[in-house]
Amino acid sequence: MISIKKINEKDIDLCYELDSNTISLWTKKQWANEFKKEGIKVFGLLLEDLIVGICVFHVVIDEAQINYFVINQKFRNKGFGSCLMSFLIKQCEELNIKKLFLEVSQSNVNAEKFYSRFDFSTVGLRRNYYKNGSDALLKEKKLVTK
Ligand SMILES: CC(C)(COP(=O)(O)OP(=O)(O)OC[C@H]1O[C@@H](n2cnc3c(N)ncnc32)[C@H](O)[C@@H]1OP(=O)(O)O)[C@@H](O)C(=O)NCCC(=O)NCCS
Repeated sequence: MISIKKINEKDIDLCYELDSNTISLWTKKQWANEFKKEGIKVFGLLLEDLIVGICVFHVVIDEAQINYFVINQKFRNKGFGSCLMSFLIKQCEELNIKKLFLEVSQSNVNAEKFYSRFDFSTVGLRRNYYKNGSDALLKEKKLVTK
């Protein structure tokens, strides 16, 4: 059974473990810093008791930024990412958020296709954004608010 739960700082090891096994974006210290930021919300997608995906988003007034979005490699292309993204969009709509942003590597074709399906459009380019010097596309999705 699939469920989505809010993750707090106590589960930082689970976040770090999934990250280390996938995109290795943050150190444990960076994860800890992320949890400390005001307006940060972290959700995990669970299959039974196993965390198969995590998203981190940062709410600032009526806008939000997805800082992290990953599905465990073994569980990709099965609809889990779409499930987590649909949940995230619903959360944002409930919070009356007008725009949702994210950055994605220009070379990450899979993720780009995935985000296009959710009507994210490219609104900017961040040069040398990643550790390896590659550029990121800034994507935006306009949300329907109440
Ligand atoms: C991008 C990412 C989150 C997508 O997660 P996912 O669980 O594979 O997403 P889904 O399964 O919902 O969708 C992926 C594809 O599988 C297809 N799919 C969904 N359910 C399916 C099923 N039951 N059977 C076969 N294919 C299916 C979808 O149509 C989709 O195709 P599309 O993207 O070409 O339209 C995942 O690839 C990932 O974690 N990537 C690495 C991290 C990353 O790049 N993050 C984004 C940058 S921050």
